[in-house]
Amino acid sequence: MLELSSDLKERIAAAGQLHVLRFFDELDDAGRKNLLSQLADIDWEALPELAKEYVLHRPETVIPDDLSPADYFRLDDSDNFDLYSDADELGKELISKGKVCCLTVAGGQGTRLGFDAPKGTYPIGPVTNRSLFEYFAGSIKRLGEKYGVVIPWYIMTSPINREATEKFFREKGFFGLAEKDVFFFTQGTMPAFDLEGKLILSAKDSLALAPDGHGGTLLALRRSGALDKMARDGSEYVSYFQVDNPLVDVISPRFAGLLALKKAEVGAIVLSKTGPFEKLGNFCISKGRTQIIEYSDLPDTLAERRNDDGALLFSAGSPAIHVFSRNFIERLTAGNSLKLPWHRADKKIPYLDNSGNPAVPDAPNGVKLESFIFDALPMAAEVVLLEGDRARIFAPTKNISGVDSVESCRRMISERNAARLAAAGVIVPYNAEGVLDAVIEIDPARVADDEDAFTVAGEMGLCRILPGQKVVL
Ligand code: UTP
Repeated sequence: MLELSSDLKERIAAAGQLHVLRFFDELDDAGRKNLLSQLADIDWEALPELAKEYVLHRPETVIPDDLSPADYFRLDDSDNFDLYSDADELGKELISKGKVCCLTVAGGQGTRLGFDAPKGTYPIGPVTNRSLFEYFAGSIKRLGEKYGVVIPWYIMTSPINREATEKFFREKGFFGLAEKDVFFFTQGTMPAFDLEGKLILSAKDSLALAPDGHGGTLLALRRSGALDKMARDGSEYVSYFQVDNPLVDVISPRFAGLLALKKAEVGAIVLSKTGPFEKLGNFCISKGRTQIIEYSDLPDTLAERRNDDGALLFSAGSPAIHVFSRNFIERLTAGNSLKLPWHRADKKIPYLDNSGNPAVPDAPNGVKLESFIFDALPMAAEVVLLEGDRARIFAPTKNISGVDSVESCRRMISERNAARLAAAGVIVPYNAEGVLDAVIEIDPARVADDEDAFTVAGEMGLCRILPGQKVVL
């Protein structure tokens, strides 16, 4: 029978967490092995301070006195015409030389969507139900063909959804990509606390563990060997996007090119906020450093403050689309460690009652801690912010219906496709209110940009879409 070492037991006791062992004697070898491996991963010496700082107290985000809005390169900016054409050119060159890879973070639990499988497998295609993953895979494949290059794709999963994610890719034949060009890696986890700062058991042989947030990406890239692979492959820039946004440009030549031109370590896409309380992080500057302040942390008075022309002062919102220079990730994670602040979320966490029976709370009973990737921005020597065109690049799938939902995302997919086809000369039906009156899905493996849409519409001889029509290209 596997036994607990006295050293580990002492460390757990010193952290005031001996209750996690209360069913240990009842466990068989497999159960003991599971629990012991989880316990071995915990920094017991740091735990009491962590619980004190983030669980027993509710940390308040300190808003710096000198906080000001971050400036950014505007979408339509005639002053920067030359800069943007240089960036376009350089970006295309970087892609064709194989210097840009893609990174999707897909380790989240997607609780708001309430979908019992990895979020990337969600059938989002408005006509064919193709999955979120297929959107990215198709676009990566198409870009690779266009630029005559292999674009490596890194996908971060959590220990909870890794297996199901890989299985999905195998079942789908990797969507036509070569298996060797898709690199899965797993992020770390954090144990959940109850409101008294005690770790929660989810089973007799398991702590309640949750993924450690998208901030875990950077260290997970190093620990998994992904960073080494990037270096071997010559990938110098990492195009980062979330698994829930099928409209994203998996690589934007202009964005990557601008980062390189400006010799910046991190790039971030900016969207002009739709209102003071839109749920996007806010790009701000303090002490000369760019940072993002979460929508929930920006005081209302600041969120609502306006310039003389009536525009929001803090208008720059983050859709979580970035480019990182690989050197920046190397530098940040050197020594195999990276300290990002933790963010607290109060959640309903299934637990074991005193008799060891599983129980599901009906109100938040515990705390999960996550780190956020954007907390790395102030650590960059140079950050470049570029405005993106919301309707073309951002349709987050967070909920089933309403704002940022499956519904809105499907509609936006159709609308972007309609705009692309209209630009290619196809007549597209709109009703009297100006709302698109068709559902249009385009295979991302055929069309990665407006140029492709033009070619495909031409090849198909597509001139007109009829009202109410469902179209698949
Ligand atoms: P969200 O903040 O939307 O979280 O993640 P979520 O887990 O997907 O959804 P909810 O909040 O439970 O409803 C934004 C992106 O970051 C990834 C997600 O997969 C998504 O692409 N993420 C989040 C991770 O990869 N790991 C995490 O620990 C958290």
